[in-house]
Amino acid sequence: SELELEAEFERKIANDQKIEPKDWMPEKYRKTHIRQISQHAHSEIVGMLPEGNWITRAPSLRRKVALLAKVQDEAGHGLYLYSACETLGVSREELYDQLHSGEAKYSSIFNYPTVTWADMGAIGWLVDGAAIINQVPLTATSYGPYARAMVRVCKEESFHQRQGFEIMMTLANGTPEQKAMAQDALNRWWWPSLMMLGPTDAESVHTEQSMKWKLKRKTNDELRQQFVDQTVPQAELIGLTIPDPDLKWNEETKRYDFGEMDWDEFWQVVKGHGPCNKVRMDARRNAWNKGEWVRDAAMAYAEKQEQLETA
Ligand code: ACO
Repeated sequence: SELELEAEFERKIANDQKIEPKDWMPEKYRKTHIRQISQHAHSEIVGMLPEGNWITRAPSLRRKVALLAKVQDEAGHGLYLYSACETLGVSREELYDQLHSGEAKYSSIFNYPTVTWADMGAIGWLVDGAAIINQVPLTATSYGPYARAMVRVCKEESFHQRQGFEIMMTLANGTPEQKAMAQDALNRWWWPSLMMLGPTDAESVHTEQSMKWKLKRKTNDELRQQFVDQTVPQAELIGLTIPDPDLKWNEETKRYDFGEMDWDEFWQVVKGHGPCNKVRMDARRNAWNKGEWVRDAAMAYAEKQEQLETA
């Protein structure tokens, strides 16, 4: 009966056993997973754009190869996550439709412009740094396909983070102009990176239920604190200054206290009014429309092969 199925589901969650696609799950569990996993997938796909912008302008062959590999990894993460999402009974077409119609959310962070090469450093270091902090706990999330996807994704994110930090370190140790460029990138990307981790726990509508289901293993504020504590010493190491006058080591808590984010800016960006929301969406829609003939050709080819085989 439904009650027994629900008890079995609750028991699995309590025992840290994974929920698999064919297992019974509450409809709300399924829906909230589709929501989070699809937003995550869209973020990876839209996330290719700000960095893709610099592939042709990378300062050396070595930098170009690394950046190209990184952006390609993000495409892989997106496809991997769409597959995980499909196991919950939603089609990829529906998910693409939601993205292209503007109905779906994706991470606020990808709506900021990449104006100098140092932004490639700042994104790898900070954005991928925050992504790792967010995603490592998700390797222990309760839904099997999502948890397993996160294992591989986190390994690749770790390469991305080092790639970015190394760019920042090189610039910070370079000419005064290069160091200024690195500092400028840090100034612009710091607060948006903190915002990536979502609204405060008090404002977060989904955290409580998602923690109960072990979809989320840490709250937004816990992740944000961890990100600050990890990143401040890295900035110090390369001689850059975090743009937060309230940032201070707290002897009592053994953590950094830090300033308030501009939450008005955050919600503006989430609602579609950030500096690059329109550019990003136009780029995705154009890519989709321009790729139509490729999809049609692939389908026609597959049908032809099938006919040949059955003939
Ligand atoms: N950008 C855009 N939307 C956001 C952001 C953000 N940075 N943070 C929160 N939101 C949205 C939520 O999606 C939710 O909207 P919805 O109800 O329409 O779905 C709303 O704001 C309220 O937030 P929460 O209740 O805190 O939502 P949630 O519990 O899902 O927590 C979080 C948000 C932490 C981002 C979570 O969804 C998560 O861990 N997602 C997986 C990781 C991910 O998507 N990362 C993307 C960037 S990393 C990368 O791609 C490299």
